[in-house]
Amino acid sequence: MKRIAVFASGSGTNTEAIIHHFKSDLTGDVALIVSTKIENYVITRAKNHDIAFHILDKQGFKEGVDLLKVLNLHDINFIVLAGFMWLIPTYLTRKFQGSIVNIHPALLPKYGGKGMYGKHVHQAVLDANEAESGITIHHVNDKYDDGQIIFQATCNVDISDTVESLADKIHLLEHAHYAKIISELQTGVS
Ligand code: GAR
Repeated sequence: MKRIAVFASGSGTNTEAIIHHFKSDLTGDVALIVSTKIENYVITRAKNHDIAFHILDKQGFKEGVDLLKVLNLHDINFIVLAGFMWLIPTYLTRKFQGSIVNIHPALLPKYGGKGMYGKHVHQAVLDANEAESGITIHHVNDKYDDGQIIFQATCNVDISDTVESLADKIHLLEHAHYAKIISELQTGVS
């Protein structure tokens, strides 16, 4: 069974969808939420669902000692990034090789890399007059948005789309697919 830690920096609508999914899918359990600030709304979601949470500080995250202790304490064997904006350090990608995944709000390898998150991605897609965008679920290595692609789904980009309307379409795709894909993956952590 997967003991899942969700890392999220923002509002956490994906986190909410994943928590909801694993209430009835017994292949996994969301055991921990990890975030960058106590004020992030995803922490309110953790409290609402009575899920343990951990707040990172940036330097400590780079070194990893505290985080590894917390992950151990909760028996975490699978990490899900859901709108988490810090680069994942090598100690985590090594320990969780094959068991750490991310969702990106575009069709990688286009519109990925440092600085390409949330609304910046949708703005770039609109600026390039793309006819379609979508989501990419991929394994995580120690570069931004670079790991092996597991799954993609697409949506149309219409002439009338704005950053907000495109973000809404992408969120619908994310909420429909991310938890199901997580459910199908195996944990490789011993
Ligand atoms: C999601 O759209 C996710 O794909 C994106 O942040 C949003 C978080 O939304 N992630 C990235 O841009 C990573 N490069 P949420 O807080 O509502 O789940």
